[in-house]
Amino acid sequence: MTEHTEIFIDKAAIAEKVGELAGQISRDYEGKDLVLACILKGAAVFTADLMRGITIPVTVEFLQAASYGASTTSSRNIVIKKDLDCDIAGKHVLLVDTIIDTGETMAFLLKRFAERRPSSLRAAALLDKRARRSVYVPLAYIGFDIPDTFVVGYGMDCGERYRNLPSIAELKTTE
Ligand code: IMP
Ligand code: MG
Repeated sequence: MTEHTEIFIDKAAIAEKVGELAGQISRDYEGKDLVLACILKGAAVFTADLMRGITIPVTVEFLQAASYGASTTSSRNIVIKKDLDCDIAGKHVLLVDTIIDTGETMAFLLKRFAERRPSSLRAAALLDKRARRSVYVPLAYIGFDIPDTFVVGYGMDCGERYRNLPSIAELKTTE
């Protein structure tokens, strides 16, 4: 079996969309203390670009989730592997991920972080693979709706590889 990548969303289209999202976020959170909560590792690249497009004061924090069990069923067990370093009580928190697939990771994190009494808690994702959703997740900001296909690059991996691709690519395997 061999693998190859085919560009799905190029650098220019990503940059344009990230700029639009950063503009909307800057307008929506004007006058508020915004905390971007980047979900490692996949959202590192998206968050780095998004924060540089935001024109209001913003802080950035990092967390990492891990999931065990079959990725295709709702029997997955999700845990916080690396927690935020700050107390989010009274803060306006925007959770940032690159892609929402089943939605289980983001739904879990929204539920957990809501218990910490932030002033507001919302989610942003560059890509929404809506056809795969198994649980409802409210997404305040979405870049692109994409079909059910496996993508890599722009921070996203397959077995930890391809995160460094500057574009978003479809990963194809051939016999
Ligand atoms: P969910 O909990 O099923 O929504 O999974 C979300 C996580 O799965 C994302 O943060 C990614 O790490 C990973 N993921 C989902 N779809 C893809 C994909 O197409 N390529 C790479 N990673 C993906
Ligand atoms: Mg991954």
